[in-house]
Formats: sequence, C-alpha cells, structure tokens
Amino acid sequence: MISGRGDELSRAAGGPARHVPVLRAEVLRVLRPRAGGLYLDATFGAGGYTEALLEIPQTRVLALDRDPVAIAAGAELVHRAEGRLSLVQARFGRLDAVADELGLHDFDGVVLDVGVSSMQIDTASRGFSFSQDGPLDMRMDCTGPSAADLVNSEPEDALADIFFHYGEERASRRIARAIVHERAEAPFTTTARLAATIARVAPAKPGAIHPATRAFQALRIAVNNELGELAVALGAAEAVLTEGGRLAVVSFHSLEDRIVKQFLAARSGRGRAPSRLLPGEPAPPQPTFVVVGKQPIVATAAEVAENPRARSAKLRHGLRTGAPARGLEDSTERLARLPARAHIPIGRNRPIETDRLQIEELEQDRVDEVVHRFRDMLQSNFQRTGHRFASRNCDKTRM
Ligand SMILES: C[S@@+](CC[C@H](N)C(=O)[O-])C[C@H]1O[C@@H](n2cnc3c(N)ncnc32)[C@H](O)[C@@H]1O
Repeated sequence: MISGRGDELSRAAGGPARHVPVLRAEVLRVLRPRAGGLYLDATFGAGGYTEALLEIPQTRVLALDRDPVAIAAGAELVHRAEGRLSLVQARFGRLDAVADELGLHDFDGVVLDVGVSSMQIDTASRGFSFSQDGPLDMRMDCTGPSAADLVNSEPEDALADIFFHYGEERASRRIARAIVHERAEAPFTTTARLAATIARVAPAKPGAIHPATRAFQALRIAVNNELGELAVALGAAEAVLTEGGRLAVVSFHSLEDRIVKQFLAARSGRGRAPSRLLPGEPAPPQPTFVVVGKQPIVATAAEVAENPRARSAKLRHGLRTGAPARGLEDSTERLARLPARAHIPIGRNRPIETDRLQIEELEQDRVDEVVHRFRDMLQSNFQRTGHRFASRNCDKTRM
C-alpha cells in the first residue's frame, strides 16, 4: 500500500495485491472507537480501517475516497454494513461539506491514511508504476490534468522544482532537462518511457532504489495536489470533530508529516507561551487540539518485516477540545505550497506565490530531522551499553 519509496515492493504475481492496512492497531488505539460512535474514514482505500471501525458495535462510518475504483470495490462492504456505512466518492479536502450534505455532525473520530493504495500502484493502467508499463496518468480520481499533461507541458524549471521539492530528487535539474529535450521529439505517453529517460540520466547506484522512484512520487503528489488536499482536510476535520473526538493521520512522506506536525503544534498552542507575546499582541486563540504521548508513532519491526510499505509510515494524533474551529490558517496552507513555483493551484485553487522563507523553513526542518535521528541513534547506542544520553534540550524525565 502506500506512498513512499517502497511502493512497488509487494506486488502479487498476476494482479494488484489487496492493500494491507498500515498501523491499523495503533490507529485504533489512538482513535479509541466506542460503541455507537460516529467516525469518518477519509481514505477508504480497500476499507481496512473502516472495516475495523465497523467491528465495534453500532458504530456508524462515513468513508470517502476520491478513487472511483476504490468506491466501486467497497460496495460489498456497504452491503454487509447494513446501513452503518456511507461510502462517498469525494476528495477529503471536502470532508466537511460531504458530512454536511449527509446531515452528519459531531464525529467522534476522523482518520486519514494518505497516499496511494497497493491497488493503485499495482494496476499498470493507472499509470503510477515505473516498473510496469502503462499510460502516464497517475490521477487518483481520473479527472483533471494527468502526469503526461504535466510532463509534456510544464517548463523545465517547474518540472525540476516538482522533482526536487516533492521527491527530494537530487538529480532534479538533470531529469527535467532530459524530459524537455526528449519531449521535443515526441510527447511522453507511457510510464516505461519516462522511467527509462530518468534511469538514463540519473542511473541507480548498486543496491539503491529504482532511479525513477523519487521523480514518480513527486509527479504523483503534484498531479493529485496531495499536500494542498491534506492541509485543507486537517482544517475540515477540526470543524467536524466533536469535543473529545480524535484525529489520527498516517502519512508516508516527510512533507506530509511536516504539515500534520505543524498543524497539531499550532492548534494545540505549542510553542507560543503567553509570556512570549509582544506587548499589545492579542492572545492566541484557544487550542482546538490536545496532543498527548510520544509522536509520531511508527510501525514495529515486525509490521515492517511483514509489510515493507509500513516502514516510512508515521502516525500523529490529537484530541479535540471544545474551542471553536479555526478553519484553514495561512500557516498550514503555506506548508502545502511548492516553494518558488508560481502556478500550481492548491487547496481551493488559490495561486501560489514564490516564497523564499518557506524554502529556508524546509531546509531547517531537514536539518532538524537529521539532528533528531542522530540523537536517537546515540540514545539507543548508549541505552544498549547501559548508559543514558541526555541533551540540554530533551525532557530528562522521559529518559
Ligand atoms: C493508503 S490508501 C488507504 C488505505 C486504507 N486505510 C485501507 O486500510 O485500505 C489511500 C487512499 O486514499 C485515497 N486518497 C488519496 N488522496 C485522497 C483525497 N485527497 N481525497 C480522498 N481520497 C484520497 C486514495 O485514492 C487511496 O485509496
């Protein structure tokens, strides 16, 4: 299942593998579904989370997916649920509007498991796969511009920005240059030709992932406006959750995780102590979420061994307070923008402005991530040898 670097790892011979839900037990643990509760699964996929929620007596579930194929495949579960499941084809950026249209309010839990499903990746005709030839499509809901449209029409620097920012592809400029050169001969129409072009200009090192992995991931994110959708959906989830309701988000990409992390930090009031306000500055709004426990939650070694796609999954969660919803704030929306690009629409089709500051923030975040990883590694080494590692910034009570 899922987005990320191992998307093509678990294809079953002879057809798409059924999506194996990632972090399902952990998601249920943080959602704490109760009998008779109302839940929203914003990414139905193969229905793994929805099915688990329906196992709790008398729950009702509204499930969404933008993919018409996922919705059609869910018909059997809708039938089995005997009126407790509403399954709707919609983007999760509209989850509040869809709930409203159905007269559903005050959800006890909202879950998002973002990215692509195994079925999407493994079906060559959907065009997500670099290892199976198919039309260069990648549209989850089969509408709007496809990956081929993007690849054949975007200027070279815009393509390079997509590969660099959404795929963290270091050979972004080389790949973009090769695409622009080759499309002048004939437009790209298939995944195999694009993958071959990428492999030619950015060959893989021995033992490394397929050279087209990052560029394909980046195109998919751009084609489906995945970051913009996520930013909008978090604000919408805040609006539909009841007091005491729980939000759980599983992501697979560092940019997605960063959006969720910063949304929850901003909404839980972290990092803004009243004593740090400037004189005359209005007090920040009441926190709409409480964030508890060590986050993000990641898959256990056993789950990763069974389902390699779980290895980049990160779960973050929050508990809704009774404070009024704030809606989508600029700070969250800004995270979803592609730096230095002028015209990819995001969220509700707002234009993007060039944003130098955001590039610096992104770079700082990557530095922070490396520092944290290094500290975690030191910590586990010291723990193994019976020592303790304490930095000046860490909470010593947890060590
Ligand atoms: C990782 S799968 C979810 C798997 C699911 N949790 C399960 O257990 O089977 C992600 C699903 O989210 C859907 N999706 C991705 N972005 C979406 C969006 N913006 N709105 C609605 N569905 C979306 C994809 O079509 C895909 O089916």
